[in-house]
Amino acid sequence: MLRLDTRFLKGFPKALKVYEKDLLEARERLLAKNKAPGAMLGWMGLPEDTETLREIRRYREAHPWVEDYVLLGIGGSALGPKALEAAFNESGVRFHYVDHVEPEPVRKLLRTLDPRKTLVNAISKSGATAETLAALLIFLNWLQKSLGEGWRRHLVLTTDPQRGALRALAEREGLRTFAIPENVGGRYSVLSPVGLLPLAFAGADLEALLMGARKANELALAPLEQSLPLQTALLQHLHRHLPVTVFMVYSERLKHLPSWFVQLHDESLGKQDREGNRVGTTAVPALGPADQHAQVQLFREGPLDKLIVLVVPERAAEDLPLPEVAGLEAEAGYLFGKGLFALLKAEAEATYRALAEAGQRVYTLYLSEVSPYAVGWLLQHLMWQTAFLGELWGVNAFDQPGVELGKRLTFALLGRPGYGEEG
Ligand code: PA5
Repeated sequence: MLRLDTRFLKGFPKALKVYEKDLLEARERLLAKNKAPGAMLGWMGLPEDTETLREIRRYREAHPWVEDYVLLGIGGSALGPKALEAAFNESGVRFHYVDHVEPEPVRKLLRTLDPRKTLVNAISKSGATAETLAALLIFLNWLQKSLGEGWRRHLVLTTDPQRGALRALAEREGLRTFAIPENVGGRYSVLSPVGLLPLAFAGADLEALLMGARKANELALAPLEQSLPLQTALLQHLHRHLPVTVFMVYSERLKHLPSWFVQLHDESLGKQDREGNRVGTTAVPALGPADQHAQVQLFREGPLDKLIVLVVPERAAEDLPLPEVAGLEAEAGYLFGKGLFALLKAEAEATYRALAEAGQRVYTLYLSEVSPYAVGWLLQHLMWQTAFLGELWGVNAFDQPGVELGKRLTFALLGRPGYGEEG
């Protein structure tokens, strides 16, 4: 379950009334685009796709020998699975992410892997991303050299249903693929096979994850008083004059979630609106309590230029009691007999109050617990929030012209034919 706490933003309930019309119109505009070709709203329907889920399960069951799972992908093709696997890996399968192009870590990884027990999953919607293609060249060559004809069983491609280099490779070599629906973009793809396939190998409860996401869908379409995604979109909208939006998560298991959110928010909303104005706020990742000993100094006493969002679990599935240790009564006695989770909760609450007292704009999203259901709900909630903000800010939340330019310039610098003029 997901719960919004705006206790320090006193004007918020009134603002909901004032902005009701704008919010409902933004939602209508978004939904009206659903049928338009190229609208890229397929992510809304992913939680209902039980057929793909069955297919993924069958594939997982047919590969019991996998001990190491190497994911080749970057941006939206890596951040979601990385965030969820870190939280919900129950299987003991070891995950490795080649979401970079630094030779030494790749060499080190190759030295540690046993190809006979390794599954390589290359993920790219476009099939054209240089980083992912480079990693694929390396791992495909490694599999072929190590396994001979048997290499195909160790490579699975997640890509566009029809287009791109990965699709072409799969067809030529008869490789197993999973499709990212055409109308789903990278950073909205976590609940497609991009995230579900690795998570099946991680042993995560995929039904619960999708069930949580369905709850977010239900609330996105609900009347404003119940519509959590419209409400948090309004909170972001009301604070759009503040250049920074901090996303601070109080969960070690969700330590990669802020990076996923940063990509979703920044890449979707930081661009020119229809009048050519540069819009967007800069999302900044933070992790509690570690960043209480780092960034929170700035958040409390630095410029009042931020909207701070805390994401806090309300309970632990399995707490850990703090034992009494003789000799430590004076310094640690107040902890004796409490659960470790009580400390986490107290720290989150203390940060919340301290930031509000310092004059920062801050609200909290409570997760009932760090479970696949609650996190699935949160992910889909944040995708709706972003999509609504796109409408409110007059930008297309589903393209990324700035990123595409960087990709083309990289091609030019490396001499890819047809891209020379930009080099
Ligand atoms: O959100 C996006 O579309 C991007 O961040 C992409 O996910 C990223 O550039 C990787 O692209 P691809 O999946 O085509 O390799």
